[in-house]
Formats: sequence, structure tokens, C-alpha cells
Amino acid sequence: MKPEIGGDAIGEDRLTARLHHLEIGTPQLDVMAAFYGRALGYQLSRDGEAIKAIADKRRLIFTPRPVKGLVSAGWALPDSDELRRLRARLSRAGLAHTDTADAAFTDGVRVADPDGNRLVFGLPRPETAPADAAGLPARLQHFVVASRQPDRMVRFFVEGLGFTVSDDVVDEAGEKRTSFMRCSAEHHSFAVFKADQDRLDHHCYETTDWNAIRDWCDHFAEQHIPIQWGPGRHGPGNNLFIFIHDPDGNWVEVSAELEIVDKDRIVGAWPHEERTLNGWGKAYLRS
Ligand SMILES: [Fe+2]
Repeated sequence: MKPEIGGDAIGEDRLTARLHHLEIGTPQLDVMAAFYGRALGYQLSRDGEAIKAIADKRRLIFTPRPVKGLVSAGWALPDSDELRRLRARLSRAGLAHTDTADAAFTDGVRVADPDGNRLVFGLPRPETAPADAAGLPARLQHFVVASRQPDRMVRFFVEGLGFTVSDDVVDEAGEKRTSFMRCSAEHHSFAVFKADQDRLDHHCYETTDWNAIRDWCDHFAEQHIPIQWGPGRHGPGNNLFIFIHDPDGNWVEVSAELEIVDKDRIVGAWPHEERTLNGWGKAYLRS
């Protein structure tokens, strides 16, 4: 059986994990949840003040907040050995972390990154995925944040958590503008770019292939949801992509053909230009 996480490409000293869920804060809880229900096929259920959204290989939690943004991200670890290694790595780096068990994980560790995003890494509770209203494949795969201090964020993710940098985007002055980081054989599961504010930029669903992107476009068309950017192909990660907007204005990406890397891959440096973001045409330079 093929391992879901692709741990072969990750050494013992590096983190192996996959994105499990995102908790998104929103000032318009019901509007957002309903949108994700029809756009991404999520089944919705109330959980106190929050709304849980679940479909096959994807989970979101919407939490009422006065300002939109990321509340927390949950990452699934393959086994208790990986959790033990992560705890040891955090302790060695002198980073505060708390043991936790919650609705998603039987055992785990909670940390805050330098921008204050809450991150939980744990052993997922067994769960049966509900029927998928969209009926199309889309695995929650990565998210990207804007940050005023990307260097500190990258140091935290690499030295504290054990992520590995796959590619950087570097401007003409030699300054790193974006860093793509992995915690499996997939090119990136997280990225951070330099901006004048700290915020969630987008989250992404990896689908199976080019034809599945077509099917998602047809599905969005039926739902009267316009494609905002793409189809295109990113430089770093080499993935095909389309983007839509949710009602809060967060970008949502559907991707395919994301690069699978081997563990000795050299960190790439891409120029900070439109072609890097989209080899096929127009780009939105947000950093
Ligand atoms: Fe992305």
C-alpha cells in the first residue's frame, strides 16, 4: 500500500506530517459555512459557537470572530514516535509547547508560531468521512500565510517544528520574499511570504489530475462561483491551479500535479516575478 504521507522522503530528524484541518475565524459564520457547503461539498454541523465542516479528506472549523483570519491549524502525525520526536525537537529549540488532546487528536502538542497562529500536531481520532456533496476529489493539502517577519516564521517552522524548505522566491536585492516548506514528499504543505501584515492568504485542496480541475470548474460554474485566477501553473511546486474567493475574500485553491520531491533535493531559488507565480500568464504578486 502506498503511504499516504510519503514518509520515505523525510529523514528521522525532519518532521513527517500532513495538514489535517484548519480553523478559520469569520465575522459572517453562517454565510461562510453555507458557501463551503455548496462550493466544496462540506457537510456542516453545529459545535457550540462553531460550525464544523467535514468531507472526504478535508475538514474545516468556522469560528465566529470580529475579524476574518486563521485561528488554528491541525497537522496529523503518522504515529506516536513522530510525536515523541516533535516534542523532543521543540524542547531542544527551547520553544514553549503544551500537551493536548481534543476533538481531532487523541494525543498531541500545541504551539504558537511567531505570528501567534495556533498549531496543533497530533494523532488523529478515527473518523468516517461523510458523503461528499460535491462528489469530487479534494484533499486539504496546504495553506499559506502573509507575514511581516517571514525569516522568524521560517526559522520556527524549520528549526522548531522540523519542516524542510523546498524553494525560496528571492528578489533582485537578494531578499527572500516567499519560502515553501514541506513535511512529506509533497513539495510544500505550508508557505510564508513577506507582506506588511500577518494574515491567512489561502488554503489549498489537492485533486487528482487536470481533468478533475476541469470538473471542479464545471462544479463552480453550476454554483455561480467565478474562477478568480487560473487555470495556471505555479513555478515552485510545478502544480496546476485555479483559485476562487470565499465570502470573506480568502483565496481558495484547487491544485493538481504538485511536485513530489526526494529527500536530498537542493533548495531552489526562484526570481520574484510573475512567471514564478504563474508560468502560463498573469500573476497576483502579493508579497
Ligand atoms: Fe497554494
